[in-house]
Parts: sequence; structure tokens; C-alpha cells
Amino acid sequence: MSTKVVIGAQWGDEGKGKIIDILAQQSEVVVRSQGGNNAGHTVEADGKQYKLHLVPSGILNPRTLCIIGNGVVVDPGVLLEELDMLQEQGVDTHNLKIDLRAHIIMPYHLILDGLMEQARGNSDIGTTKKGIGPCYMDKAERIGIRLCDLLDRELFTEKARANTEFKNQLITKIYGGEPISCDSFLEEYLTYAERLRPYAADTTPVLYEAVQAGKKVLFEGAQGTLLDLDLGTYPYVTSSHPVSGGVCVGTGIGPTLIEECVGVMKAYTTRVGKGPFPTELLDETGEKIRTVGNEFGATTGRPRRCGWFDAVIGRFSVRTSGLTGIALNKLDTLTGLGALKICTGYKMGRNVIKDFPASLTELAACEPIYEVLPGWDEDITGIRRYELLPENVKRYVERIEELCGAKVIMVGVGPGREQNILR
Ligand code: GDP
Ligand code: IMO
Ligand code: MG
Repeated sequence: MSTKVVIGAQWGDEGKGKIIDILAQQSEVVVRSQGGNNAGHTVEADGKQYKLHLVPSGILNPRTLCIIGNGVVVDPGVLLEELDMLQEQGVDTHNLKIDLRAHIIMPYHLILDGLMEQARGNSDIGTTKKGIGPCYMDKAERIGIRLCDLLDRELFTEKARANTEFKNQLITKIYGGEPISCDSFLEEYLTYAERLRPYAADTTPVLYEAVQAGKKVLFEGAQGTLLDLDLGTYPYVTSSHPVSGGVCVGTGIGPTLIEECVGVMKAYTTRVGKGPFPTELLDETGEKIRTVGNEFGATTGRPRRCGWFDAVIGRFSVRTSGLTGIALNKLDTLTGLGALKICTGYKMGRNVIKDFPASLTELAACEPIYEVLPGWDEDITGIRRYELLPENVKRYVERIEELCGAKVIMVGVGPGREQNILR
């Protein structure tokens, strides 16, 4: 058995795509288990940059079987566009399977995502407006449409008509929006169905057999711990489970079949969308990190909010996902920044808080307690061995692992596939 889960351990965009692409070189199967095209995973390989939203980042390795698991929500038009884009760039996409149980994002989900955000006014979540939340809502309400339904022309037509009628009531009567006609998208979706049919499969036995056969299987997380519907900064979260536990329900694999769990972190913190962010930097340093680190969303292009590394979050991720190791990316972005701060705990009134709080009111009242470490000015982007890193870089990395309680097993010094140090 050789199974490894890779999750985002902060608020998403930690560089999971890069880590998956590196690990996929030695993997036979790469599986996505949750989220949808709200994810944007950047892979830089052979001088080309790929932004993947739905297709697992293992696709660039032609020998890797890529699976979109049952827990993913699939926008069929977006997926087909992504496949076309990959094929145009010479990437072989035959090795992709999509689980028949995966839920389908429908045009009314996109409309509702926009209208619901608008209705929230100042309390909006800052969603990606890709219809993710409304699609998971339908899944929980048990009126969702799955890939197996889309492939059944009659059943799909019936469900799509009934749902559109019901959603139009919500769209017009609750949110004051324009109704959508089912006929405006029905044929388009039925065409998508035929294009997706060759990829559709019950992936759960495929995966189980691969694991049993001792194949190297990699589970690619999307989003991050603090965007988890249960464990994140609710309600400023996504509607799925990015923590490692989500892999089990999202792929149909049992927890005893997971061996390793790597949490990807940035050497600082970023977040897109709204909600409290204790170590956020609203000054020049934050601006510098955003510019140097090119911190703009891969999906929506929004500027990412930037702040110091938060070890309270790191510890929380280690605990809630049972992390066996940390992949620490973007150390190169901190070069030349001067002294660096790491948040070791929060102060709330007179109390010191070491655990990430459940209540957002409490979190918003938390003030970070900082430890200051010396920075470095050396260019580290060309370094490939840990021992050769400047002393202050190693000190920073080792302090992070000490505070988080898990070993840093990979160190990122640039966006490229090769700009990664294994420890
Ligand atoms: P993901 O959603 O977790 O896959 O991350 P994104 O792709 O949204 O954002 C991470 C960004 O950081 C991408 O532009 C990556 O190319 C880039 N990146 C990843 N690791 C490193 C690193 O070690 N150094 C630098 N400079 N960039 C990195
Ligand atoms: P990757 O996989 C960062 C955020 C959105 C918003 C909240 C809810 O690239 O790390 P949603 O559209 O999911 O209902 O939005 O979640 N969000 C992400 N932030 N990286 C992501 O994915 C994200 N996916 C969703 O910005 O705050
Ligand atoms: Mg991303």
C-alpha cells in the first residue's frame, strides 16, 4: 500500500498543484476528492504554466491515471474546456476518469451563487461565483443531478426541468432575479454528456484495486483547512471538506487505507474572500509579499490578502488532518524582507490562546503574539539541497516545524517543478 493525501493547510492557494505535480512523477494514480472549479492549481513544468481547476494536477504525467472522485462537483462545460486546453498544449487526457456519483453544476447554480452573494450585502462570503455552494446545497437537499443522471437523456431532462422550475421560484420570488429557461441549456448539457461519456466510470472499485495492488496513489486536496465547511472559519468557508477526512467520503476509500498525509503551507499566510485573518498585513510589507509572491487568484484574479505565518493555524491543520509532514512553499518570496514574524499564539484580552478558536467573534478579537526571526537577503531560488540554504532560512523552517508539530519534508524555493528541496 502506498497512499498519500496532500491537503492545503491554510486558506487555500498554498501551492498544492506544484507539490502534486512533483509527487505525480512517481505516482500511478492521482485523485481529486472535493471542491470543483473554485480551485485553481498552478503547475509550472517544462517552461509552460498550466492553471488547472478540475483536472487533477497529475495529468501532466502521461502514465498517471487521474480520477475526479464522487465528492467533486463538476461543471461539465468548464471541464471540457480544460480538457481542450490541455489537448491543445499536447497533454494526453485519455487517462482521466470521472466518478458517476459526482454532482453536476447546473446553470441555475451559477445564477444563485451570484444572487445569494448579492443578497448577503456586506456579509457576503466572497465566493468564486462558480456555483459550488448551491450545487452542494442540492446534494444535501437530495435533489442534485449526478453524472450518472446526466448520461441518461430522459432522466436528465426530467430532473433538469423539475429543478429549473423550482429554482426559478427562488430566483424570481426570493432574490428578484431573471428566470432561466431549461430549454436554453438542455441541448448543450446533453451534448456535454456525450463528450463526457467516455470518461465516466464507477471509480471506487478502480481506486480500491489500485490501492490493494500496492500502486502509488496520491489524493489531491483543493482549498484548505480553514475553508472546511465544518472546521474552517464558518461561514467564510467553502461547501466541502478540504481536510484529510474529506478524502474518504469524497473518493470512497476507507481511513485505514491512507498512509501519509502532507499539508501544504506557504511560508506566510494568504486568503482570498472575506472573514477574519489575525496576521493580515495591511501595510507595505503585505503589499510587498503580494507583489513579489504574485498573490493574485488563479481562478478569479482577485488580489490575495497577505500576512505573516500563523503557527496556530499550522498546529490546527496538523491536528485536524493528522499531518505526517509539511511541504513549505514560497520561502523565496520572503527574501529581502528583513526581520520575519511568526505568530505563535493569540492574545484575547488577558488570555493567551494556543488553539484556533471556533467562534469568529473570538477570532476577530484575537491579537497575534509574534516571535521575530532574522530574515535573509541571499537568492535561494537556485538551491537544491537543504544544507546549502542560508542559516536563517533553515532556522525559519525549523522553527515552523517545531511550532506546528510536524516535520517540514519539502521546501519550495520557486514555482518550477525543480525548485523544490526534499529533506
Ligand atoms: P494551489 O491552489 O494550492 O495549487 O496554489 P495556487 O496555484 O493557487 O497558488 C500558488 C502559487 O504559488 C502559484 O502561482 C505557484 O506557481 C506558486 N508557487 C508554488 N510554490 C512556490 C514557491 O516555492 N515559490 C514561488 N515563488 N512560487 C511558488
Ligand atoms: P485552491 O484549491 C483559495 C474561497 C473563496 C471564498 C470561499 C467560498 O486553489 O486552493 P466558494 O466559491 O468555494 O463557495 O467560495 O472559499 N475559495 C478558495 N480560496 N483557494 C481556493 O482553492 C478556493 N476555493 C474557494 O474565495 O472565500
Ligand atoms: Mg489555488
